[in-house]
Order: sequence, then structure tokens, then C-alpha cells
Amino acid sequence: MIRADQHLVLVGMMGVGKSTVARVVADRLGRRVFDSDAVIESRTGRTVREIFAEDGEPAFRALETDVLVEALHEVEPVVIAGAGGVVLSAANRAALKESGARVVWLCADPATLVERVKSGGHRPLLDADPAGTLRRMFEEREALYREVADAIVLVDHRSISEVVEAVLR
Ligand code: S3P
Repeated sequence: MIRADQHLVLVGMMGVGKSTVARVVADRLGRRVFDSDAVIESRTGRTVREIFAEDGEPAFRALETDVLVEALHEVEPVVIAGAGGVVLSAANRAALKESGARVVWLCADPATLVERVKSGGHRPLLDADPAGTLRRMFEEREALYREVADAIVLVDHRSISEVVEAVLR
């Protein structure tokens, strides 16, 4: 159960529904939502794809950390849709723990994710072999999501509203 003074952070793989669920949950709680990729794009005036192509992944990861840390410093409690890779950095994982935020891992079978993601858009890492990449990423990241999570919500075969209810529970 989320406390009124706690930020809520959704983490999980690409395509799991973090942005959509965060918007609905934020509406329900009457909070602002910080969607990592959207904040990065509006702040830099460039797409995630352009940042990856022009500056490389490490530069993108640095922006991701800036946005996370800023959102965690908001005075009013907010809902944060973390980007999929936010748990890769030990510093980000420590920031999540230290902030006292409630972190919910939206977890899906990689096979479910393949159906939901399309290459293009803001997911350049999935341009080649999305199914294999998602499987490998899940294996690499599973323990990291688990490490930061206060709660795990399984999303396979669940509607958005069922996931929202589970996140708020
Ligand atoms: C990434 C996830 C994407 C985006 C970028 C990298 C990742 O965000 O930040 O393509 O490494 O998992 P979403 O999780 O919102 O798709």
C-alpha cells in the first residue's frame, strides 16, 4: 500500500505498460506523472532514438539518471514511469532505495512483451531481433528489478485496469 507522502515508481521492461499505467495511477491519486523518456525528449528537444544515434547509449543513460534523481527530489509525491534501463546503474538503484519511494516492478514474460513492442519509436535497442533481445535483457535485468522492488505486479493476461488496481493495492 502506498503512503500519501511516498513517490511511486514503476519499473520494468520495455513494453510492459509503465507509461500507460503510470498515467492512470497518477490520475487516481491526483498526482503529477514523470515519464522518463517523455521528460528526456521534451527537455532535449530530441527523440530517444536521436540521442542514442548521435550521442550514444552512455549519454542517454546519464540523462535517464538526471531525470530520475530530479523526480525523486520533487517535494509533492509524484508517480514516476522509469525507463526500462533505469535499474542498470548501481547509483540509480541506490537513489531509489534512499528516496524511500515505493517501487513497483511490472513484470511480464518476455514473450508477452514481444507482442507489444514495435521496433522504431523510442526503442532503438529492439531494432534487430526484438524477441531475442528482450529475452536476454530480461535475464540480465530480472535480479535488478527484484532488488529495487517493494512489490511485484504480474501483468501477463491482465487488463490495464486490473494492473492499476494491483499497483494501488
Ligand atoms: C530502454 C527502454 C526505453 C527507452 C530506451 C531504452 C531500455 O524506455 O528508454 O529505448 O534499455 O530498456 P521504455 O521502457 O519506456 O520503453
